[in-house]
Amino acid sequence: MKCNADPLVLKTLAALGVGFNCASMRELQTAAELGVDADNIIFAHTCKPLSHLSFAAQQNVLLSTFDNEAELYKIKEHLPQSNLVLRFRCDTALNAKFGCDVATEAKALLSLAAKLQLRVVGTSFHVGAACEEPAAYERAIATAKLLYDEGKSLGFAMPLVNLGGGFPGRKAHYFAPIATAINAALAKYFANEPIEIIAEPGRFFVETADTLICKIMGKRVVRHASGEIQCILYYLNDGNSGSFSMSRDYSNIQHFRANADKLDMFQSILWGPTCMSADKIADNIYLPNLNIGELLVFPEMGAYGLSRATEFNGMPLPKMLYYARQTV
Ligand SMILES: Cc1ncc(COP(=O)(O)O)c(C=O)c1O
Repeated sequence: MKCNADPLVLKTLAALGVGFNCASMRELQTAAELGVDADNIIFAHTCKPLSHLSFAAQQNVLLSTFDNEAELYKIKEHLPQSNLVLRFRCDTALNAKFGCDVATEAKALLSLAAKLQLRVVGTSFHVGAACEEPAAYERAIATAKLLYDEGKSLGFAMPLVNLGGGFPGRKAHYFAPIATAINAALAKYFANEPIEIIAEPGRFFVETADTLICKIMGKRVVRHASGEIQCILYYLNDGNSGSFSMSRDYSNIQHFRANADKLDMFQSILWGPTCMSADKIADNIYLPNLNIGELLVFPEMGAYGLSRATEFNGMPLPKMLYYARQTV
């Protein structure tokens, strides 16, 4: 839900029967308003405020992740009827914030959950955003099996294997090898075990869904002493406080000039519209000498950019236009 919170995107996914990973009371509320069944929601934040836990209880959202002792005590007090999913840390980058350490923490957490008479029903992990390493999923599934066995020895049935997110959106060629690695690992580690598999793909669903079109609002040409153009600074009507809030490479920028291969290209820097000097979108981009009022197109902007955007400095968010090939 956090990846692209556009109401029509959420409504479409809900209509297609997709379940939701919610991280806050507001997201739980949105899912309820979309008519998503409480059984189709996982409250997938491992450090939840008490008020959000109580709200989950009211909404009957009874699947929730944990990765630390304090959370177990909170859940014991405020949502003891919840089914719990132990989130463990993968050995990939980007995993410092969430997930217990498998070697030093997981067993103690499962033991504490047993002591508190809570119900642990599975494991979850996140291999890291836009994963390009299929083997990362395989290693995580091997760990999930270790914890599955550990849980069994403590009396838990932990059939839920939550594969988390990390599936690529724009670099779609990585998806098939990832799916192959996952299927092979599930067959290898969980053969004949009665497991239930879920995943939490964010970027995968929406990254390619949005195309952003920006207008050049201002321009500064920097010249060498000889008068020759050194580089061109373009000031766009959207920037790092808006749709570009998640930095990435912008090598696929397009413009509307015809016969681009015959035009001189210039090193260009793209700036956002705010007064923040850090509002630089990209440098070392090569573009023709464009005019104020011309448009730039940024494909594959549907993941995490606009959902994190603000109207900082009074700069409006872009207008959304929808196009769907099919209705659901
Ligand atoms: C718990 C959890 N699941 C799934 C996702 C979605 O990840 P992605 O967009 O990489 O698929 C995130 C993203 O931060 C997450 O924190």
